[in-house]
Amino acid sequence: MTDARKALEYVRANKDRYLDELKEFISIPSVSTLDENKGDMRRAAEWVAAQLRSLGMNKVQIMPTGGHPVVYGEWMGAGKSAPTIMIYGHYDVQPVDPIELWKSDPFNAVVKGKYLFARGSSDMKGQVVASLKAVEAIVRTTGSPVNIKWLVEGEEEIGSENLEAFIKKNKKLLACDFCLNPDAGMMGPDKPTITTGLRGLAYFELRVYGPDKDLHSGLFGGTVHNPAQALIELVAGMHDKNGKITLPGFYDKVRKLSKKERADFKRLPTSNKELLELTGVPALWGEPQFTPLERVGARPTLEVNGLYSGFTGQGSKTVLPAEAMAKISCRLVPDQDPLEVEKQMRAYLKKNAPKTIKWELINLHSAGAALVDSDSAGVRALSKAFETVWGKRPYFRREGGSIGSVVLLQQYVGADSLLTGFGLPDDNIHSPNERMHLPTWYKGIEAFVHFFYNFQ
Ligand code: BES
Ligand code: MN
Repeated sequence: MTDARKALEYVRANKDRYLDELKEFISIPSVSTLDENKGDMRRAAEWVAAQLRSLGMNKVQIMPTGGHPVVYGEWMGAGKSAPTIMIYGHYDVQPVDPIELWKSDPFNAVVKGKYLFARGSSDMKGQVVASLKAVEAIVRTTGSPVNIKWLVEGEEEIGSENLEAFIKKNKKLLACDFCLNPDAGMMGPDKPTITTGLRGLAYFELRVYGPDKDLHSGLFGGTVHNPAQALIELVAGMHDKNGKITLPGFYDKVRKLSKKERADFKRLPTSNKELLELTGVPALWGEPQFTPLERVGARPTLEVNGLYSGFTGQGSKTVLPAEAMAKISCRLVPDQDPLEVEKQMRAYLKKNAPKTIKWELINLHSAGAALVDSDSAGVRALSKAFETVWGKRPYFRREGGSIGSVVLLQQYVGADSLLTGFGLPDDNIHSPNERMHLPTWYKGIEAFVHFFYNFQ
């Protein structure tokens, strides 16, 4: 029996336990953005560290950062001639609100049909456990043909704020040939995918202040500029009629798409109809001269993530609010710089904000866009593994989400990320009723087993 066979038999014999362990990990509500979950963040890190220890990893540590800790572990027993592969993951998850829209408890994972429903099931505790369990099958049967390092952070969903300082400080510890990052998902259950680019992010909070307290809208309406109105006027002006972003200089550094890149996008198997079904919108929107997949993968955007002002409770209240707030983020593409985008945002506000209000802009976090190797030993080993399991070669695409570690590992460790994963477009990540497609998850674990043995 080949080594891969032995490990695959182990996977099949332990399938149910693998799922139980994923459910246990999911039951820890590790929401990184909320102070009330700080203890749960620690517990989730400890859960990962315990897994690494049980796999016989060495130097397993929960390493402090300025925020939530990083879990590290390594096994370097394959020797100097074998490659060193870092496996990246994040143990934090997004908040669950609006909780009333969940059909089951977000932290009590339940199987319904072919899906496991829970916060983090797809993004990305399921992916972390898929990696852990592929490695478990290997180390418990034949031993690993490669050296392995683990970097599992707790701040991905809040912009990996403290990861830069951590990576900078631990460059040597983190040295590797490349990083396997299963946080990028795939295009469909029968569409294994390798992601070759991600967008960056510049995230802001814009606050507009009017009167020094909420006022009676009858007594003062018409004499005072309503900050909610001023805010939405500013926000509305951030796009022109053609959907172009109006921040001064915003497109100056945007890298043009080559003919080859556009041809690659055209070949991808997603239709507008599928996008309409996935999102439930009556019609698509965006720059007409680009296809929807190009707009997501290779064009920058500006989105309002949240708006708040005045009275939003039941019934009516005649109030002229004292302030208004918008959360606004820009997805960025190569070669836009998030700090330059902040300057452009400030320039736009200076030029367009009326004298009748005061404003304040807070930069919540920034991440650069990334392009990674689409032809390397790692890419070839993973393509081959996908072909073995799915019977077809993977699709290569650029995706619109962001993962802070990708640029940081390129910058400080000189390591490219091999972006993939087994999350699907209809998994409802960041939304109510997040779910994970179990048949794809099991295939994913087997694909990772093959992937590691492809370095033998
Ligand atoms: N896993 C996602 C990113 C993703 C999803 C990439 C699908 C490619 C395909 C990740 O956890 C995420 O949501 N990241 C945040 C990062 C941000 C807060 C800096 C994002 O993209 O909004
Ligand atoms: Mn994720």
